[in-house]
Amino acid sequence: MEKVAQMYEGKAKKVYSTENEDYCIISYKDDATAFNGEKKGTISGKGVVNNKMSNYIMELMEKEGIPTHFVEELNDREAVVRRVKIIPLEVIIRNIAAGSFSKRFGVPEGTQLLRPTLEFCYKDDALGDPMANEYHIVACGWATQEDLDTITEYTFKINDFLKDFFKKINVDLVDFKIEFGKTRDGKIILADEISPDTCRLWDSTTHEKLDKDRFRRDLGNVEGAYQEMMNRIFGDR
Ligand code: TMP
Repeated sequence: MEKVAQMYEGKAKKVYSTENEDYCIISYKDDATAFNGEKKGTISGKGVVNNKMSNYIMELMEKEGIPTHFVEELNDREAVVRRVKIIPLEVIIRNIAAGSFSKRFGVPEGTQLLRPTLEFCYKDDALGDPMANEYHIVACGWATQEDLDTITEYTFKINDFLKDFFKKINVDLVDFKIEFGKTRDGKIILADEISPDTCRLWDSTTHEKLDKDRFRRDLGNVEGAYQEMMNRIFGDR
């Protein structure tokens, strides 16, 4: 499949149309932003890591019965995906307190939560992606209650799958953000990416951060963290 025209350029990816209107090609960039685009930078090699990691994880998820947009890896930075209309929600699961959860509730980073929590944010850069509950979402028409029920069921399944997946490579899944889309025939599927940009990943032994927080918080060795995740996932394959 080949790119026809660029449809959209986001902060970390470009999306192209193809000759088949049910498929797109996404191209992962090395560009990184944080704090709603206020902080900008480049993480050399990030696009390759995010493309390969996301594709591999989604392929495994499909085998677990979770429908995803992933179709085929084209090259180091590009993949064919099913075309969807993105549901304008950031769906976040937290297993361990960190980031905005710790700030909002005064719960120290690293506190094990008594059960995984689910959060929704309305995707709107101008508004700073405000948190929204199910009533807000249904009231504003961003998704129906039925959509939310499906998204919730898939998201907890994805959390169970990902926690196990990362545990095997000695990484704790602290939290993550995913997005869903709807295909032309109305099916909800996992879209966007699963990568160190969208997950908090801590080494289980040393608690070293192996994700984008190294960039957000100027912790250094940002590229090294992405490569470390790549090595742990693909090192023995
Ligand atoms: P938070 O603690 O800043 O709310 O982030 C929760 C999770 O969501 C964390 O794994 C990072 C991820 N995330 C994104 O993928 N995109 C974003 O724009 C933000 C703010 C967080």
